[in-house]
Amino acid sequence: MRIPEETIEAIRTAVDIVEVVGEYVSLRRRGANWFGLCPFHEEKTPSFSVNQHLGIFKCFGCGRGGDVFAFIQQIEHVSFVEAVRMLAERAGIPLPDGEEEADDPRPALYHALRFAARFYFEQLTGPETGQVARAYLKQRGIHPEAVRRFGLGYAPNAWDALLKAATEAGIRPEVLEQAGLVLPRKERGGYYDRFRHRLMFPIFSHTGRVVGFGGRLLEPDPEQPKYINTPETPVYHKGRILYGLYQARQALRTQEEAILVEGYTDVIALHQAGIEHVVATSGTALTPDQARLLARYVRRVVLLFDADAAGQQAALRSIELFLERGLNVYVVSLPPGEDPDSFVRAKGARAFQEYLRQRRRDFVTFHYELARRQGRLDTPEGEAEVARTIVSAIARLPDPLLREPYVRCASELLRIQQVRLLEI
Ligand code: CTP
Ligand code: MN
Repeated sequence: MRIPEETIEAIRTAVDIVEVVGEYVSLRRRGANWFGLCPFHEEKTPSFSVNQHLGIFKCFGCGRGGDVFAFIQQIEHVSFVEAVRMLAERAGIPLPDGEEEADDPRPALYHALRFAARFYFEQLTGPETGQVARAYLKQRGIHPEAVRRFGLGYAPNAWDALLKAATEAGIRPEVLEQAGLVLPRKERGGYYDRFRHRLMFPIFSHTGRVVGFGGRLLEPDPEQPKYINTPETPVYHKGRILYGLYQARQALRTQEEAILVEGYTDVIALHQAGIEHVVATSGTALTPDQARLLARYVRRVVLLFDADAAGQQAALRSIELFLERGLNVYVVSLPPGEDPDSFVRAKGARAFQEYLRQRRRDFVTFHYELARRQGRLDTPEGEAEVARTIVSAIARLPDPLLREPYVRCASELLRIQQVRLLEI
């Protein structure tokens, strides 16, 4: 796809680089330039500067620099075309039709999904309809600020609330169906809303586009699943999305670490508690695509898992995927019966942070302690087997320098000489 040079220039002229950068970095004016702490590397005194007139940024510490497109590319981890698209949207400059394939269904789906997110949000925050959902949020301790940040909403208790509103706004039912928002009626023809009387969690892509929804029951109902989610669509691939990534992106960079949890509510509860570098897999096993996505933001992941056997098993699988991508992995098991949401609510943010600090195990120690609890270290054969498992996990790390300390750690735990481990 090609975007004409004139359009790119028009966008460059229309956006103010100081304003754009200012959304990520706190800037102060000094002479002709604006200065701030570089968002691309750790520093204590500002060496990052922006020149409004020239439309460029430059860091004298790490050497990064470029125009507003380069800034968005680097800070949002997106391609040039994606950066142009984001800034075009901001500047209100339409990209020429020719630049998207005429038969590409995706722009229409994004439009419908954005509409739906606004609709559900209005239903939640508006006067009458959203009362039940507001009461539910209150009882769960989810604050209005989190509602805004995560764009939460309410799908009304009707068969056609969204269908009607979207149709009135000129969105075709076929598009709503393709976006996973409505379903075709079997007999009488026509469509009905997929999400009804549910608390809505919009799912954002890492660039901030609504791609799908999770909808939660407001009252327990054994007849119905607790969550209904958008099915796979041309814009929503569950295995390639991390819930909360868009909201966490700044914190991920400054913390240089990601906390991985399972649920929507876990992400939101931790955010509210001031722990913002959190993303969720939405209850399914981590995929290689998700591991790759996270590896673009951080070099270290902390897995927060349930203490039960299923949780441990899931942790083991995720560890392997992250190691292969060169990420350092730590694991924290939560007390039995707790999830991050319930835990942070009961104990508070500080205690939660402290728990993470004390209980985080590197992956070698995690393997070892799990094996010990499972009684797999009770026999010589068992011990040899565990050593083999741990060494094969270490071998997944692409960086030999990173393997070194883990071999040392394994050697100490297992009381097997390093040279022996290296022979495995
Ligand atoms: N999930 C799902 N469908 C279900 C149950 C769970 O898609 N029937 C996904 C959701 O993404 C959910 C995650 O798995 O967030 C974790 O499940 P669970 O821990 O049961 O949900 P919570 O997010 O903790 O929700 P709540 O605290 O409201 O029960
Ligand atoms: Mn929960």
